[in-house]
Amino acid sequence: MSTHRFLVTREIPEPGPSILKDAGDVVIKDGMSADELREAVTSGEYDVVLPQVSDTFDAELLAQAKIRGIANYAVGYNNIDVAAAADHGIAVGNTPDVLNEATANTTMLLLLGAARRAYEASEYLREGKFTGLGPNLLVGQDITGATLGIAGLGRIGKAVAHRALGFGMNVIFTQRPPEDRPVSDDELGDLAGRVSQVPWDELIETSDYISLHVPLTEDTTHLIDADVLQRMKSTAVLVNTARGPVVDENALVRALRDREIFAAGLDVFENEPQLAEGLAELPNAFLLPHVGSAEVGSRSGMARMAAENAVAMAHGETPPYEVMP
Ligand code: GLV
Repeated sequence: MSTHRFLVTREIPEPGPSILKDAGDVVIKDGMSADELREAVTSGEYDVVLPQVSDTFDAELLAQAKIRGIANYAVGYNNIDVAAAADHGIAVGNTPDVLNEATANTTMLLLLGAARRAYEASEYLREGKFTGLGPNLLVGQDITGATLGIAGLGRIGKAVAHRALGFGMNVIFTQRPPEDRPVSDDELGDLAGRVSQVPWDELIETSDYISLHVPLTEDTTHLIDADVLQRMKSTAVLVNTARGPVVDENALVRALRDREIFAAGLDVFENEPQLAEGLAELPNAFLLPHVGSAEVGSRSGMARMAAENAVAMAHGETPPYEVMP
């Protein structure tokens, strides 16, 4: 019987490599360019690829791919044309749930950091400017009592809602902006009666904080554009732990520079790993390098799930965490 062959495009934590090595031969790369990925995926040398969200599998590549499956090391799978994969009999898997709490924690880190000017404050201190406590020093926005608008109340959005309620925030949400569908109390579970569903326009205009938890689709690309930024409160803070292209990053740079909104906390960027021109210079942009799920437990859980998906795919079985078109 021929052995299964797995390609991991960037090093992942244990138990991922061990699970794969128990099931076959494993090649682990240190990141791959689009050309290197194309060559590997079309070579017929691998049964299953375990990529990162930065590895793109478009319809053209999938049409030539000689693989059985793609076990994405991520919950999001906007890097894969899932319909095209299905057309070519290539299974797709992801790593849901295991990173909900970590990503919600990152969301609160960004929300608090942007509201309370953590980046500016830290720079101020390190530059030796701190001469003692000052009543007017680095004053930020209120959090307790403020309204958080959650765009997309899925698994991560709900985990954020629980945290925000713990901080004494008022939580409103739009389920699937820009359109919406009513969410029942059953679906809200223990959040029923504690959060309010509002139309997208109302959320934009009444929120003190807007946090994005939508998948990247055609409908959500540039969901936050110049018009939305202009309609937000001038004291508002925007938080993005979802996907960069949900925000028009150039428009955001202008809005932050012109103080149309107070601040932004971003973990994801429109053209990762590049930042829009001017973004890195803004004191009111609190920025992290896509570390939303970067907690030990989440990352090893993701590695286990992606590896289990990959092994099932190699055996021609339905992966346990399958993504359907
Ligand atoms: C990270 O961005 C993920 O989708 O898991």
